[in-house]
Amino acid sequence: HAADHVRIVEVGPRDGLQNEKSTIPLDTKLELIRRLAQTGVTHLEAGSFVPAKWVPQMASTTEILEKLLTSPPLAPQGIAYNYLVPNIKGLQTMVKTLQAKGAQASGYPTPPASPASETSQASASPINSSEISLFAAATETFSQKNTNCSIAESLERCKPIMDLAKQNDIRVRGYVSVALGCPYEGPDVDPHKVAEITATLLEMGCDEVSVADTTGMGTAPRTQKLLQTLKEAGILEEDLALHFHDTYGMALVNTVVGLEHGVRIFDSSVGGLGGCPYSKGATGNVATEDLIHLLHSLGCETGLDMVKMAEIGEWITKELNRPDDSRAGKATLAR
Ligand code: HMG
Ligand code: MG
Repeated sequence: HAADHVRIVEVGPRDGLQNEKSTIPLDTKLELIRRLAQTGVTHLEAGSFVPAKWVPQMASTTEILEKLLTSPPLAPQGIAYNYLVPNIKGLQTMVKTLQAKGAQASGYPTPPASPASETSQASASPINSSEISLFAAATETFSQKNTNCSIAESLERCKPIMDLAKQNDIRVRGYVSVALGCPYEGPDVDPHKVAEITATLLEMGCDEVSVADTTGMGTAPRTQKLLQTLKEAGILEEDLALHFHDTYGMALVNTVVGLEHGVRIFDSSVGGLGGCPYSKGATGNVATEDLIHLLHSLGCETGLDMVKMAEIGEWITKELNRPDDSRAGKATLAR
């Protein structure tokens, strides 16, 4: 894979924090986002526009968006900040916030600014791009538990979200949860169902679809089978991202399978933070530090600074009183 660029999508501030029981201060969340923005990351999940009664930890997302739009030191140029939206109401809140701040979402991020232009930036201009993710699941039970509706209803719900996003020039990512195992229906999720939902989301207008192993039950053979099935369904590898939770320690192995199938976008969370509130026992995403270490060892280029990322992992896991689940991060700092 020499000279291959791999895009890492940092999901720590969203997937990483959404399951924490005690309320994390807004300033800690902003500080996490600020530090991550210094690592070379270009795609960062910053929050979710979901009802507080479903995911209380994400209740501060409007404030996070406001701060990112109005405080250039917090958000240097060249980063796409992503927000999960479960329904049209979530996107309406986001669009209202963008408009109130006189910002446009715009498409892909601009190239990183030089340090000189960073300091001369006007304060209320659209300093970065804002994107959304909508989500569907590959099993009916998970769909009901996570979004209170059937798979078909959740895909219907995506259509008006897509329309409003396109009107506002917002880039849209799709997620397919429980693609390699469901906490309610077990490990044998039908890969054809995953392919069908992925294709539907792409046809609807998603710019990419992140296929998620929510439970970490995925194994190399089943990941291979899934990617083969997606390919046979006509889905291009450049339209795919992979999102591995590392519950069984298989995330990096499955990442290699993904690389071999041509996938070049992977989601991860600094310090291995995370878990899904509707997937009991599922641990965090694969740690970003471990993913960086793997990718660099294979000669892939990520643009990310390993030491900075490891320091953030150490800091945020201490803040949250959690173990640092990144092995490569801890090893790097111990050297
Ligand atoms: P519902 O209860 O059926 O929604 O939830 P509703 O439309 O009946 O509304 C209920 C109340 O919520 C109403 O207020 C609405 O106004 C309000 P009330 O009249 O009771 O005062 N409401 C909202 N408030 C704020 N923002 C909104 C919003 N929408 C309605 N957007 C719903 C349906 C889809 C909203 C709910 O099931 C939900 O939010 N689900 C998302 C749960 C979630 O965030 N899960 C974790 C993220 S997904 C994930 O982690 C997986 C991923 O990492 C990939 C992987 O690993 O698999 C992405
Ligand atoms: Mg997840």
